[in-house]
Amino acid sequence: MKSKQKIVMLTAYDFPTAKLMDGIVDIILVGDSLGMVVLGYENTAKVTMDDMLRATGAVSRGAKNALIVGDMPIGAYGNEDNALRNAKLFLHAGAHCVKIEKKPKIAEFLVKNGIEVMGHIGLTPQTITQFKVQGKDKKDAEKILNEAVELEKAGCFSLVLECIPLSLAETITKKINIPTIGIGAGIHCGGQVLVTNDILGLYGDFKPKFLKRYAEIGNEMKKAFEHYAKEVRGKKFPDEDHSFH
Ligand code: KIV
Repeated sequence: MKSKQKIVMLTAYDFPTAKLMDGIVDIILVGDSLGMVVLGYENTAKVTMDDMLRATGAVSRGAKNALIVGDMPIGAYGNEDNALRNAKLFLHAGAHCVKIEKKPKIAEFLVKNGIEVMGHIGLTPQTITQFKVQGKDKKDAEKILNEAVELEKAGCFSLVLECIPLSLAETITKKINIPTIGIGAGIHCGGQVLVTNDILGLYGDFKPKFLKRYAEIGNEMKKAFEHYAKEVRGKKFPDEDHSFH
């Protein structure tokens, strides 16, 4: 799809969401953002393989068309052996491929062993301490560009670029042959990804500059809960239409 058509990617962690977006998006990422937006952790460090595999299974039962990417949680690819073992568990759970943050040697090992790998550079949530734009100065930008080249050489089939200036994302996208998928990386990437719960207004007030909210589902849910509570307390529900005789 590179240079022909923008790649559309979103995250999903459950069956109904995957089912709703299947046929609309090209790629579904079972992101370890699950830890924050679904499990309520402060960051993604506590996410386990069990959490990810259960979510991957649910997504794969809901999505029959999209490419499903399983996001390897931190600790699941510390060395080659555990990376391969865990990547295989993802495939067994229903993912078609896996995503890892940086680590070109691990990526190369997985690719050599028949696993398709999506890379992830720029702001890498598993290892950052501060949420800020990466690659703003020349040295940092060169480092990120080199990482992109290395991950392509390692055999990655695509690269997520997170929170980098759009000019750097453009340079990387032109320099490498595999598609780039941006999140906070501007218009020049080969595709875009956002966290579904963020675009739906389902993750509190979190609203970094790169995020666009496409709906306010959280508000709608709250309204429905309030309406239901009012009707139960006011003895308006269940009414005749919702009762058996
Ligand atoms: O876990 C995730 O949702 C991600 C995206 C932000 C790319 O890695």
